[in-house]
Amino acid sequence: MAMNVAIDGPAGAGKSTIAKAIAAKMGYVYVDTGAMYRAMALYFLRAGIASNDEEKISSVVDDISVSIKYEDGAQHVILNGEDVTGLIRTEEVGNMASASSVYAPVRSKLVALQQELAKTTDVIMDGRDIGTVVLPNADVKIFLTASVECRAKRRFDELVAKGMEADFDKIAKDIEERDYRDSHREISPLKQAEDAILVDSSDMTIDEVVNTIIGYCNK
Ligand code: DC
Repeated sequence: MAMNVAIDGPAGAGKSTIAKAIAAKMGYVYVDTGAMYRAMALYFLRAGIASNDEEKISSVVDDISVSIKYEDGAQHVILNGEDVTGLIRTEEVGNMASASSVYAPVRSKLVALQQELAKTTDVIMDGRDIGTVVLPNADVKIFLTASVECRAKRRFDELVAKGMEADFDKIAKDIEERDYRDSHREISPLKQAEDAILVDSSDMTIDEVVNTIIGYCNK
């Protein structure tokens, strides 16, 4: 049986940083499910489809192929044969991913892919619905969160460090909007699974969070 670790939580809680570090230490494969929703979102944006056009979005889902591959341990997302890993980290793509992931055909396609990956491989998978829907029988489930201020500050610092423009209030507002949409959608909303362990990283260092979760994995 493959070892499955699920990490869910809101945008900016540090899920990917933490999950990557744990994967490296424990020898698991890190699966970033948000990147899959982002790849689909990029397709919708390129096709000029509005984020609320459910009919159009649903009608093109079958034209889209998303897969992932690993190069030197890093996940690459492939959209219809094109490696789009470097193109999906923008706010525009993130917002489209949040908006388009409310639709059932989008979700069922990606959930199937995620479940297939976890069947045969030791994975640490991060997302919004991993512990609740994708891997309800995961060996360890973590709900990783942090205050809105703290998440906005981390995002702000990240952008500033990259020499990019950043507006703290706008970042905080975007985070709040995304939290609301992700946790209030009808299908698979972001929520803590009943058997998930809550970890609030607001006042913790990355190492502290990583070691706390590894402690649960080793139990
Ligand atoms: O984690 P992220 O910011 O890369 O995710 C982008 C969006 O994709 C997120 O706002 C909601 C959606 N998503 C989802 O619905 N389910 C997942 N398992 C992962 C992401």
